[in-house]
Amino acid sequence: MYKDIDILGKEIEFECLGCDIANHRLIPPGDFVYDDGFINVSADPVIPIKGFMVLGIKKHIKSMNELSSDERNRVLKVLNKTVEIIKKVKISEEVLVLQEERSKHFHIWIVPIHAWMERFKKSVFNIKEIVQYAKDNFGEKEKQELLLAIENIKKEFENSTNIFEENMVVDVILNRRSHRKYLSKEIDDNILKIILDCGRNASFGGKPNKKCQVSEFIIIKNNEIKENLALKYEDRQFIKDAPVIIAVCANKDNDPKYKEYVLSSSLSIQNIILSAESFGIGACILSCFLYNENHKEDKEFTRKLLNLPENIELIALISLGYKDNEEKIPEKELKTLEEIIHIDRY
Ligand SMILES: Cc1cc2nc3c(=O)[nH]c(=O)nc-3n(C[C@H](O)[C@H](O)[C@H](O)COP(=O)(O)O)c2cc1C
Ligand SMILES: [Zn+2]
Repeated sequence: MYKDIDILGKEIEFECLGCDIANHRLIPPGDFVYDDGFINVSADPVIPIKGFMVLGIKKHIKSMNELSSDERNRVLKVLNKTVEIIKKVKISEEVLVLQEERSKHFHIWIVPIHAWMERFKKSVFNIKEIVQYAKDNFGEKEKQELLLAIENIKKEFENSTNIFEENMVVDVILNRRSHRKYLSKEIDDNILKIILDCGRNASFGGKPNKKCQVSEFIIIKNNEIKENLALKYEDRQFIKDAPVIIAVCANKDNDPKYKEYVLSSSLSIQNIILSAESFGIGACILSCFLYNENHKEDKEFTRKLLNLPENIELIALISLGYKDNEEKIPEKELKTLEEIIHIDRY
């Protein structure tokens, strides 16, 4: 038996730290941030560095080579997720990943690089000194920050739905953002056609036949029309520089029974935006004063500009263009799943 004091001041005893943690005989400080029965991720019981994570496994083996190929892939995915989360919750912008085969039980250290580590230079060989420095400088404030970091990492893991899934659709959905700065590069007509076909294939209210199909699309490349569509609003001016704008319209005659053409066209809109994203084409949706009585003139002006007949409602504009990597996309703050999911009743 080995004895030690963990970073929270608790006495701990263990035979093999890796086995004891994996089998829950020893609960790491702040609990596990991830544990699927085979792979676990937690803070290290005795290393007091904020965001320092250890990826452990249940098998008592020494080397990565002793894992099956499937296990190795799973380890890599959890490792990758941990690194992604450490960056996402802003613990550090860079990490050091270490796996020392001299340890008896396979584990991987994921060390966030903090500003205070600069004094040790960036070499791996200073890790012992770095850990010692962290121990010497671990006070109440550092302890609270460390526990908060664990909490934040844990929350992100709980909100990560696709660690093991290789799913292009999910990746596209989860990584999409609105883009408002475009390269002048044209969008190939064949690609545009596929994107609009995705819009065409969305669900619509009613029977699955032409008579109920609601959405229609106007492809706008004409500069004068684009400029007029931008109107006088600051948050629309960027559409002038989009190589293509799609006006998504609803044919109200095709939805006399349900009157839910806005909903139907919205599904086409999202299909268009997501399929564009899958081609690396950025998009941004702009609404068109559907419900805003104060903008009647703008609405009328736009309808005239696009030559819309009575039965055709303009639902939204979508600007499309290859992404300009110079664009600074504002950070997005989302509610967690916990905050928005209700079970059975609100
Ligand atoms: C109904 C609707 C209207 C929007 N109108 C505008 C707009 O006029 N100008 C603009 O720049 N973005 C507009 N957007 C884009 C939103 O600002 C953007 O989707 C939102 O901030 C979420 O960011 P994300 O798309 O990057 O996830 C609109 C989005 C929706 C859904
Ligand atoms: Zn072990």
